[in-house]
Amino acid sequence: MIVTVTLNPAFDKPLSVDRLQPGGLHRVDVGPIVPSGKGINVSRVLRRWGVATKAVIMAGEGQTALVRSLTAEEIPCRVVPVAGQVRMNIKLFETASGRMTELNEPGPLVEEADVQQLENALTEECVGARLVVFAGSLPVGAAPDLYSRLLNLVTRLGCKAALDTSGPALRLAAQERLYALKPNYREALELCGYPVGATPSVVELLSSLAKLDVEHLILTLGGDGAYFFAGSQLVRTIPPQVKVGNTAGAGDSVLATYLAGLELGWSLAERAAKATAAGTAAVQGLGTGLCTPEAAEALLPRVTTQILAY
Ligand SMILES: Nc1ncnc2c1ncn2[C@@H]1O[C@H](COP(=O)(O)OP(=O)(O)OP(=O)(O)O)[C@@H](O)[C@H]1O
Ligand SMILES: [Mg+2]
Repeated sequence: MIVTVTLNPAFDKPLSVDRLQPGGLHRVDVGPIVPSGKGINVSRVLRRWGVATKAVIMAGEGQTALVRSLTAEEIPCRVVPVAGQVRMNIKLFETASGRMTELNEPGPLVEEADVQQLENALTEECVGARLVVFAGSLPVGAAPDLYSRLLNLVTRLGCKAALDTSGPALRLAAQERLYALKPNYREALELCGYPVGATPSVVELLSSLAKLDVEHLILTLGGDGAYFFAGSQLVRTIPPQVKVGNTAGAGDSVLATYLAGLELGWSLAERAAKATAAGTAAVQGLGTGLCTPEAAEALLPRVTTQILAY
């Protein structure tokens, strides 16, 4: 069982318009509203690969719709209630240019008492779980070391921990022992302390990242693919060129597919190739920005996989 934790879940509301004109009136097409947040995304993709998962979410008003929609996908949930409303994130797609504009609400303010409730819930949910995935940004009001605190908790309870976040939360939590970590290039630069504007080579970046106490490191590079580092093996993947739609959620599809592969016994090269195909499948769509296994498998023959010595 893989437990995912989403501290600031959302509903994603996809809108599309021919061309955005700031200050103008637009008649928009509305897509289906879907539950979102990086932990939730990871659960949704894990479930699609047939891997048992449970989503722990901190959510205010609107949680019923969130839980209903996840339950419909056979994803059990544990809600830690907070004051306020589940945020609504507008994903505005311009059909003429293919450009996406995102308008994300901040979400509810989280207080110490809420964090303690979350710790109690996690303590219960860790029983029987193998891995806990912490993904997404921290909610308003949370201390920057909240992920470090939660990582310590689940590790003490005998679970492994995976992390996908950014900024100070990432810098602090990456000092802990981690089973898996998935930064993109920008997050990796921040994590390794490079100044804004620096463009180190991937090799340089990987040797900085190799100093972390991480068993499975995935460095994703958007359209340039990804590097997968586990044990003493390093695998590089290059995705096929595709028509790009909604890129949000590509990283979540990569992380979830890689973790699914660990559960399902795939080799590192297989995990890397399928995770990359999953990321590319995710960017092809306009909807949720998440892959389906069928779309990932269809792209797989077009993914280049190189096993590199390290
Ligand atoms: N333009 C693209 N063409 C093909 N594949 C892509 C493209 N952009 C992303 N991908 C696929 O998605 C993977 C993850 O992309 P990226 O590095 O952008 O993740 P991310 O920044 O963590 O995304 P997010 O946090 O929004 O989910 C890449 O490794 C690749 O497989
Ligand atoms: Mg990401």
